[in-house]
Amino acid sequence: MASIKRIGVITSGGDCGGLNAVIKGISRKAYSLGVESVVIPNGYAGLYNLVDLDDVVLLNAERVSKIEASLAGSEAGHSRVKITKIDDPNKYERIKRGLDKFNIDGLVISGGDDTGSVVVDLASRNIPCVHVPKTMDLDLQSYSVGGDSAINRISVMTRDLRTTGLSHNRILVIEVFGRYVGHTAFRGGIGAEADCILIPEVPVDFDVVYEHMKTTYMARVERSDVKAGTYIIVVSEGIKTSGGEMLYDESAGVDAFGHKKLAGAGKYVRQQLEKRLKNDPDVEKFMKRTGMYAPGVYLIPEVREVTPGHLVRSGQSSAFDVSFGYKAGAGAVLLLMEGKFANTVVNVEGTKILYQPTEEAIKRREVDIEEITLFETLGTCFGRKPPKFEYEFEEMKGPIPRHV
Ligand code: F6P
Repeated sequence: MASIKRIGVITSGGDCGGLNAVIKGISRKAYSLGVESVVIPNGYAGLYNLVDLDDVVLLNAERVSKIEASLAGSEAGHSRVKITKIDDPNKYERIKRGLDKFNIDGLVISGGDDTGSVVVDLASRNIPCVHVPKTMDLDLQSYSVGGDSAINRISVMTRDLRTTGLSHNRILVIEVFGRYVGHTAFRGGIGAEADCILIPEVPVDFDVVYEHMKTTYMARVERSDVKAGTYIIVVSEGIKTSGGEMLYDESAGVDAFGHKKLAGAGKYVRQQLEKRLKNDPDVEKFMKRTGMYAPGVYLIPEVREVTPGHLVRSGQSSAFDVSFGYKAGAGAVLLLMEGKFANTVVNVEGTKILYQPTEEAIKRREVDIEEITLFETLGTCFGRKPPKFEYEFEEMKGPIPRHV
């Protein structure tokens, strides 16, 4: 057992659902072991500046009871500051002085891949710390808190947009966060019964998307007794063309982690569809048949992009994330107390604390393309010609892996 009497809690990177449950899980588990926990505010920026703070907030029973686990965001605050990038040769000494000043013996740090790489770095410099996986992008090896909340919000927002899409017979393109992977667009899109889901793992063939849209949308409007129809596309911000180029807007710049800010995928998809609608002779006939045509005014169906942006990681956390957050926070305290530094808590299954070296846990996990082929057979377009769904059977023996 490591001799830890006071734990510093850090949340870093982009905020998301479930983080307040992580904080509560840490503080309550620590309290049950007779250990104190305190907030180091504003991510790694706060860790770097700790030595200059007058005070830190003690997560005692009273303070913790004021934190609402079901609210997204983090009571500990965030920044996208990465310690390795701070331009100060004495930064590690400064951090150690801050920790000494407040008698902090170990850190529980919740964040994604960039945050995790700092956990590995700090541990190698004899700063005891462990990692709680957090990112709405779900691109870590294990489940990360925030993913389920984001998926549910994407799904609800996309479903909600259907009413306005239907009223105006519009084709709607909803661009969602997720950076270089499509987990949240994929699951959120399926949850909303989107017609088309575009993810970075599948280079987009816009002719395929257009054909699917045209057939589905036109049939829908024509079948409707009031000539109403919409077509919904969920697009991940990190999609690529068939040539492998990412479709972001260069003018968006980079964030403090040094990553390109992704923006513009939805606009690009809209432009691709509009171009094809304008050049397709069937479209005018369709507009006339369905009574939508108005010369000089309404020649093609409208395509609109909607970008919910930070809304997909704000507001309410899902119940799953609250539950996972509590478990992961508590599990991380146990890892830290046991001296298992530079590890990521993967889950707590009953009385088993599952963990993995952080160096491994932060390796990027993409959507398994095999998972989308079934949905392609059910009619969802993923921006490519669907391959044959080759399947096999496997009888499960022994205990079945847990889902929740
Ligand atoms: O990494 C989480 C994430 O929400 C990404 O999906 C998105 O690209 C990015 O953060 C947005 O970051 P910021 O809040 O810094 O604009």
